Amino acid sequence: MSLDTKTTASPALSEDYLSRGRRLTREIDPYLPGLTRTTAASMVNVPPHRVAKLSSNENPLGPSPKVLQAIADMNWLVHEYPSPSAEELRKTIGTYLGVGADQVVVSSGSSTLMHAIVDAFSLPGGEVISLDPGFTVYPEIATIHGRTAKVIPLNEDDFLLDIEVLKKAITPATQIIFLTRPNNPTSTMIPIEVFAEAAKLAAEVGALIVSDEAYIEFADMPGQSAVELLKSDPETYKNVMFSRTCSKAFGVANMRVGYAVALPEVAECLALANAKWPTGAVAQAAAIAAIEDTEHLAKTLAMVAQGRKYLIDELNAMGLPVAPNPQGNYVMFDIAPTGLSAEEFSDKVFHDAAVLIRGDFSPRYIRASIGTPEENQRLVVAARKLAPKA
Ligand SMILES: Cc1ncc(COP(=O)(O)O)c(C=O)c1O
Repeated sequence: MSLDTKTTASPALSEDYLSRGRRLTREIDPYLPGLTRTTAASMVNVPPHRVAKLSSNENPLGPSPKVLQAIADMNWLVHEYPSPSAEELRKTIGTYLGVGADQVVVSSGSSTLMHAIVDAFSLPGGEVISLDPGFTVYPEIATIHGRTAKVIPLNEDDFLLDIEVLKKAITPATQIIFLTRPNNPTSTMIPIEVFAEAAKLAAEVGALIVSDEAYIEFADMPGQSAVELLKSDPETYKNVMFSRTCSKAFGVANMRVGYAVALPEVAECLALANAKWPTGAVAQAAAIAAIEDTEHLAKTLAMVAQGRKYLIDELNAMGLPVAPNPQGNYVMFDIAPTGLSAEEFSDKVFHDAAVLIRGDFSPRYIRASIGTPEENQRLVVAARKLAPKA
């Protein structure tokens, strides 16, 4: 082993550890996750189960009973290391999507995997493009890793992507493009045809394009997943990757399981950048049980579809327009007609009805998850008190 003691450090390298760390406090505006149920309950003095937690887009039905059994069955192995490659889970995911297990990389949540995606497929100084309004974790991760974060606006009316806007944003320095489909917080779906066009633009500069499909199970538009491109024309779409999660439709957010899918040679690179033991055995078993319980998934999707229609109809009727054609298990609506700021609106709904929604990402838009029928109704009743048309 050679001890290479280079002394030509850049100014940044000559700073101390804390100055390097403090770069992050200056450069990052961190994504704030929603409150936990217990914290929220203590803030409004109600028992935790009384909070309608419509703030983190979780499964309104909770986990499948088969998941709880699978977790209990793993108790005796808690002191041992899990499979680092999660092969059983990767096979289950492969069967679910009709792809090879060698195309799947698993981690403790898809947001964790985004660090590895940035590490593996871009270099310091490279550009990482994402959407606005959008999931701000991508620019945050890009900045942490010393990449240049670039966010491009969605259309103001339909919250979809104008491909010309993306085309203008792409430069020879563009290395990764994250498109969220359905998008968070707008709940709108960039159609697969537009994503395919974006993939071709990315390929021209040698960039990877990632379709973040955390919510795609809830979409009622068929054939929207990037898996269709990887299956139908892998040569043209070899720069395509998509990520999914078990935190939403599969109801195991607390187990922390997400994954990415790409061609095998791309997945192999991502696996090398991934954490060494990226998920625990309990989490892997829970995720397998969740994916295999197709009945629980069907019940979840039916509940979300019904609740989504109810919220769209009610919110529109009370003069709080919902962003068009929502496809996730949440809706984004405009509360400007109330004369309140989004923060004031969400605070009032929380303190009046113990309904927790997100009003902290925009001055005028609220994001609310689809809950149980009772929770959705509580949101409607509370919103109606503030709305222009009661
Ligand atoms: C668009 C999007 N992608 C990814 C995630 C993170 O999911 P995970 O729980 O798999 O980290 C979220 C979480 O809210 C999300 O909204």
